[in-house]
Amino acid sequence: MGKGHGTDMKLSLKSPLDMHVHLRQDDMLRHVAPFTSAQFAGAVCMPNTLPPVDNMERFHEYVRQVKAAAAPHAFEPYVPLFFRDDFSREMLTEARDDLFALKLYPAGVTTNSEGGVAELTKIEPVLDIMQDLDLPLLVHGETNGYSPDREREFVAVYEHIATTFPKLRLIMEHITTKDSVAFLDKHENVFCTVTLHHLLYTLDDMLGGLFNPFLFCKPILKSAEDRDVIQALVLSGNKKVMFGSDSAPHTEVLKRTEGMAGCFTAPVLLPMLAQFFEDHEALELLQAFVSDNARRIYRLSPPERTVVLEREAWTVPPRYGSIVPVNAGETLRWKLA
Ligand code: DOR
Ligand code: ZN
Repeated sequence: MGKGHGTDMKLSLKSPLDMHVHLRQDDMLRHVAPFTSAQFAGAVCMPNTLPPVDNMERFHEYVRQVKAAAAPHAFEPYVPLFFRDDFSREMLTEARDDLFALKLYPAGVTTNSEGGVAELTKIEPVLDIMQDLDLPLLVHGETNGYSPDREREFVAVYEHIATTFPKLRLIMEHITTKDSVAFLDKHENVFCTVTLHHLLYTLDDMLGGLFNPFLFCKPILKSAEDRDVIQALVLSGNKKVMFGSDSAPHTEVLKRTEGMAGCFTAPVLLPMLAQFFEDHEALELLQAFVSDNARRIYRLSPPERTVVLEREAWTVPPRYGSIVPVNAGETLRWKLA
């Protein structure tokens, strides 16, 4: 917790975890992984690579690549397997001890999700196996509807899964709306992650003035009312809520020309979170949000590390190589020690 006064102030976090991040592959992986491993003792590294991490051979290879890119920091990658509705009981049972979770993408709702699930009615046999194996299900919960309503429309799917499989741990990834927040406490087996950008920004920050492509992400940013409910949830200290940044790097060129969705927040995460919790006089809640809740929900034992922030101003660079971060050019109050 906070020690000292004024500019001497330091903040120590025990084994922070980012429960949702995109680290990509190859050169991009080697470029971005150190931002995450410098701040976090572990992270849920999403499997929407090309091709997706949807079998155990790719799983072991991706874990190996992430660990190599995260060195020299003690860092544990938790890689959820990309959900396929034809996974067999035999395969999942055999892989169980290596597996952390499965990640379900409805087909086409976001980056590299074309191979996701096309028919949500077909997922139940696999969910039944997952429940038996106590394997958590992470979900990108959006329909293919009108974009501001996609998450709201998906709550009915969450409801169906949570009631049909009451022992299955179901994690609503990157929630953004008051409907998702209202749903969270209705079922014991439902949990969620919240990103930095959905905690801080609204749709107007992206397109209320000049268009800011670096805040374009999926789910898209929402209204101030929704954002305020997300903030209140995080500041309530609800133990079902975990931090998951959804930091999702794309090159500046692809953001501008192809309109790729994803906010690259990795370099600013802990400083911005400290600033947010400090602004709300709630710094004592940060440890649970960035680590303890996830450890309990997933029963994780990440590497024991203490990550220290100091209260010292720094200015976020305009770009890191070919990638423009969120908060580029802004001066932040907290810095990684
Ligand atoms: O904005 C997003 N970008 N949302 C996602 O769900 C995926 C991510 C990406 O992989 O770029
Ligand atoms: Zn994501």
